[in-house]
Amino acid sequence: MTILVTGGAGFIGSNFVLDWLAHVGEPVVNLDALTYAGNLQNLASLEGNARHVFVQGDICDRPLVDRLLEEHQPRALLHFAAESHVDRSILGPAAFMRTNVEGTFTLLEAARAHWGRLPAAEKAGFRFHHVSTDEVYGSLAPDAPAFTEDHPYEPNSPYSASKAASDHMVRAWFHTYGMPVVTTNCSNNYGPYHFPEKLIPLMIVNALAGKPLPIYGDGQNVRDWLYVRDHCSAIRAVLEGGRLGETYNIGGWNEKTNLEIVHTICGLLDELKPDPAGPYSRLITYVKDRPGHDRRYAIDARKIERELGWRPAETFDTGIRKTVQWYLANGDWVANVQSGAYRDWVSAQYGEPA
Ligand code: NAD
Ligand code: DAU
Repeated sequence: MTILVTGGAGFIGSNFVLDWLAHVGEPVVNLDALTYAGNLQNLASLEGNARHVFVQGDICDRPLVDRLLEEHQPRALLHFAAESHVDRSILGPAAFMRTNVEGTFTLLEAARAHWGRLPAAEKAGFRFHHVSTDEVYGSLAPDAPAFTEDHPYEPNSPYSASKAASDHMVRAWFHTYGMPVVTTNCSNNYGPYHFPEKLIPLMIVNALAGKPLPIYGDGQNVRDWLYVRDHCSAIRAVLEGGRLGETYNIGGWNEKTNLEIVHTICGLLDELKPDPAGPYSRLITYVKDRPGHDRRYAIDARKIERELGWRPAETFDTGIRKTVQWYLANGDWVANVQSGAYRDWVSAQYGEPA
């Protein structure tokens, strides 16, 4: 029994691979292109572990994907690989269309050919698990009910449009070809190995460096935050017990405004690593809003709880404390990801000198 994971060197993928090997133990083949967001340091603890086979490669490379499926005969393909940052999709959408749309198409076609050749018993057990996002549902009004799985698709950014396209393909491959697929749509994750271009790690890293904490617009946009290891346990639950062709929303029941998040981080840093210059909140700076900025996301996670008994283990208070502590303890990891390419991004996005 083996699983094939794509994007397993990124934030969620690497947490998933580490947790999978700790909890399940089945071998993992990990296909990742190592873009700016992929980092083998996340998987350093697996060095020498024969149950983890890392392959650097592109999900758009059909011969490579065919070869991996043929060689390793995985019982499931878990598809995490993506371009994932909304701001980058606004500055340069092409990479999002290529990886998120063409890449998902390539994987679906390779998996379909492979699945079609399997003997009946293995064919019935095979799974294509597509990891997606709540952003495909668009933006909620302040008092609107949270997103259920039946909410219409209303993607608003190039990123969410590319993820919506990939979700639609996965659905179509089930309806047309009978492919054994499941899709999960998750809310905002946070935790260890989160690349510091995203809100929570960016705020921690900037605060520790004494840099401005850039809040887009009025800071009142709402996200529903989930500790990354809870996302990983939900994916394992859906992989094992999810109904074929279904989608499952995953969320933490933790709606917070961006300003609340940043004040919480500042408060934790004031407690854990006080700055003689004063409270970290002095660094909060309001900057130009993100174009097309979605106002609110919130996930109704009752379906996965009802059908599979999954609930998050962490509250926001426990998860954010663990996260801040992780960044304080892993300054080397932060220093290593802040490579030249990262500095170029910060300069393009926030107008700071590179
Ligand atoms: P990430 O950007 O941290 O990691 C993406 C990984 O994919 C990287 O390791 C990168 O090298 C790899 N990759 C990119 N293009 C590739 C290609 N063409 N071929 C092979 N590998 C490639 O992303 P993440 O935050 O870990 O997100 C993982 C998945 O979860 C994505 O599909 C994303 O849409 C989804 N998701 C993310 C969140 C979140 O809050 N981060 C929430 C819900 C869903
Ligand atoms: O909802 C799930 C999605 O969450 C995932 O699909 C995406 O891959 C992931 O990146 C995330 O998207 P967001 O756009 O919600 O996350 P981000 O961390 O970029 O921003 C969170 C909020 O914080 C958002 O309202 C924008 C705001 N923000 C972000 C940055 C980077 C700021 O105010 N300042 C910033 O510098």
